[in-house]
Amino acid sequence: MNDVISLDTLREQITADIENASDEKALDAVRVAALGKKGSVSGQLKSLGKMSPEERQTAGPAINGLKNDMAALIEAKSATLKKAALEARLTSEKVDVTLPLQAGPMQRGSIHPVSQTLDEITAIFSDMGFAIAEGPDIESDYYNFTALNFPEGHPAREMHDTFFMKAKPVAEGEESNGNKMVLRTHTSPVQIRTMENQEPPIRVVIPGRTYRCDSDQTHTPMFHQLEGLVIDKSSHIGQLRWVLEEFLKAYFEVDNVKTRFRPSFFPFTEPSMEVDVQCDRSGNEVKIGEGNDWLEILGCGMVHPNVIRNCGLDPDIYQGFAWGMGIDRIAMLKYGMPDLRDFFDADKRWMEHYGFRPLDLPTLFGGLSS
Ligand code: DAH
Repeated sequence: MNDVISLDTLREQITADIENASDEKALDAVRVAALGKKGSVSGQLKSLGKMSPEERQTAGPAINGLKNDMAALIEAKSATLKKAALEARLTSEKVDVTLPLQAGPMQRGSIHPVSQTLDEITAIFSDMGFAIAEGPDIESDYYNFTALNFPEGHPAREMHDTFFMKAKPVAEGEESNGNKMVLRTHTSPVQIRTMENQEPPIRVVIPGRTYRCDSDQTHTPMFHQLEGLVIDKSSHIGQLRWVLEEFLKAYFEVDNVKTRFRPSFFPFTEPSMEVDVQCDRSGNEVKIGEGNDWLEILGCGMVHPNVIRNCGLDPDIYQGFAWGMGIDRIAMLKYGMPDLRDFFDADKRWMEHYGFRPLDLPTLFGGLSS
């Protein structure tokens, strides 16, 4: 009789424990405590051995019944707990797909129009077989002026609004070599450096920063130029014209451009010319390749024999052509920025408006600006 009561008590206890188990771990502890090797129900089963056959006949089914019922209860509770855990997880990991997208890193940065324009220009000239050359921003008076056939005291030196560096103190008894340093006023000194270091044939474009003491809507003290130089035994002005017209068509992404070569003066070229490109200014923006107007776009010419000689080459053997243009200026023309000073203000809103998508490198086959 005692056993029967204790079995009922055991059933109540274990049932309550199962109900109170709040997670799988607690439930497993209840299972071990009841049905494990040393568990309370297992203990009852072991006691069957000590019973008389008659006692066993009633106690056996009762204990086994308890064991099976508890196992079934535990299994049911385990299923309930698993379902609850899954539901809790689903709630906590819920994603609201209607929320606005967060800007990824690709949307955050953008490429400055000067970098974009430079990439476009170099893509075009690389395709024509030009290499890229570079030189220092702080340049000697010799490379910036003298070697380029600017005579000492020539007014063209003044026209450049040069930033001169402080002259180096001269030691006593020593004569100044007159080689003052300047912030280069154009990329042309790299023509000299290239001819000094490279055997013709030379075909290079030279991008870089340049400096002049000037500031208004279309001038900033620091700006960018791109120089071109070709030196060979049979270079001529027809090639110069072809190169420039092909460049202008590719850069402005139009099928045809009309150009006008006007006589001009640069000390380092003879003859010297300025190139105008046909354009239409009737609307809000300047359209290249149509209309009745002209826009000055670059300077060029045949390299002066003095310049070739200054680089140690024989002008009776070698000749060539060169050109120079403002990168910022042609960026403004193509992309419609009205004020050059904004280029260097580091205004994030301006960059968001005029900047270009990163990793979208301009190529001739993939499209320059699209
Ligand atoms: N260096 C000139 C300037 O800054 C531009 C230029 C004109 C470069 C004619 C050239 C050239 O190579 O041939 O105004």
